[in-house]
Amino acid sequence: MLTILLATIIGLLVGAFLAWLWQRWTLRARLEATLRALRLRHPTATPLQRPLLGEDPLESLLAQLDEALQGLEHTLEQARARQTQLAALFDHLSDGVVLVDPEGSVVGLNRAARSLLAGSRDGAIGRPYPEVLRDYELNELVSQALREQSPPPGRFVELGRPRRTVQAQASVLHGADRPLVTLVLRDITELRRTETIRRDFVANVSHDLRTPLAALQALVDTLLDGALADREVAEDFLRRIATEVEHLTRLVNQLLELTKAESGQLQLTRVSTDLAELARSTLRRFEPRAAAKAITLDLHAPPDLPLVSCDPDRIGQVLSNLLDNALKFTPEGGRITVELSRQENELAVRVRDTGPGIPIEELDRIFERFFKGDRARTSAGSGLGLAIVKHLVQLHGGRVWAESPPGGGAVVGFTLPLQPS
Ligand SMILES: Nc1ncnc2c1ncn2[C@@H]1O[C@H](COP(=O)(O)OP(=O)(O)OP(=O)(O)O)[C@@H](O)[C@H]1O
Ligand SMILES: [Mg+2]
Repeated sequence: MLTILLATIIGLLVGAFLAWLWQRWTLRARLEATLRALRLRHPTATPLQRPLLGEDPLESLLAQLDEALQGLEHTLEQARARQTQLAALFDHLSDGVVLVDPEGSVVGLNRAARSLLAGSRDGAIGRPYPEVLRDYELNELVSQALREQSPPPGRFVELGRPRRTVQAQASVLHGADRPLVTLVLRDITELRRTETIRRDFVANVSHDLRTPLAALQALVDTLLDGALADREVAEDFLRRIATEVEHLTRLVNQLLELTKAESGQLQLTRVSTDLAELARSTLRRFEPRAAAKAITLDLHAPPDLPLVSCDPDRIGQVLSNLLDNALKFTPEGGRITVELSRQENELAVRVRDTGPGIPIEELDRIFERFFKGDRARTSAGSGLGLAIVKHLVQLHGGRVWAESPPGGGAVVGFTLPLQPS
């Protein structure tokens, strides 16, 4: 009886031990398979290691599995960080980019594209591209790229309000799991504008040089044709030649000045300057011209004006150009006042005259190169004076403006920043 009981207990124990062994063996086999699969997916990871002598193989496998999982988590984190970086880069690209999948749905749209394609602000992702682009030519570009799976020639399109000139280029991106059409939108409005300005500039310079040169040619020809013999006529012609040469010299000097200011070659020599004193001395130089037209010159400056850090030669030139205009446009018996005042962190200078004033529609344009108002067409000058003023003031960190006050006349002003106290 005892033997049977003992045999049963031993049998049960052996059975339990075998079951435990079997369980461990299957678990180990499954763990090994999982690890092998993980290693296969990550070939760069270290290969599976045999347990060391005396080490529990299951423990060793579990430790390796834990290590592999940690490695996987690290790789995932890196991938996530990279994805965030790429998304930020995509969103902050200066060019607009729209991604379209083979079914024609928009799958990506960055910030620049959203601002160029006004109206497609919300919910653009997942919508058919014609609903997002809403432009015939852009739709054509994308549909051609989708159809032919090759980049069609780029186009220039006008988008939005205010109108922007956009260079649009569609291409097919083959790297992803399925080909995507990429539409790149480059805003070239500014580029076009500067091109136009440059073209106009060359045309204006040529015109302004040609006019006095033609006059000089005519005067010299007439002198050579016999006018030289008549002393009185010859003297008159020579005086006119001198005027034309003076005009040409002034024009060339102004152009050089403007080019220097615009190209950043001009170096300011800043010193602490008493603007009231500078205005007084500049006004003094204009006294003979003012007297010839019976024009009164005035200076209004509060006594406690702070000094300004500026280049006195350049600001003197700004004042001269403004006074030159005021004197040119103010009729006899008028008045020109230079007003200085402090406005928060800047000092404002206004040149006020009692002339015909500046038409409202020309107020912004008078600072453009070669701009001459309708009334000034026949006056001497090439329309460069205020363009130079604007550049010199901006170089100092200030701004310029013009007003047409209700009482008549013109006010052209500028500010200079005061040094932080
Ligand atoms: N004080 C003013 N009163 C009326 N119109 C003015 C006055 N100042 C400027 N303007 C207008 O602005 C235009 C541009 O002025 P700007 O000084 O740039 O050129 P300009 O005096 O015609 O020529 P430049 O200064 O090159 O000799 C003038 O032609 C004129 O139409
Ligand atoms: Mg002028």
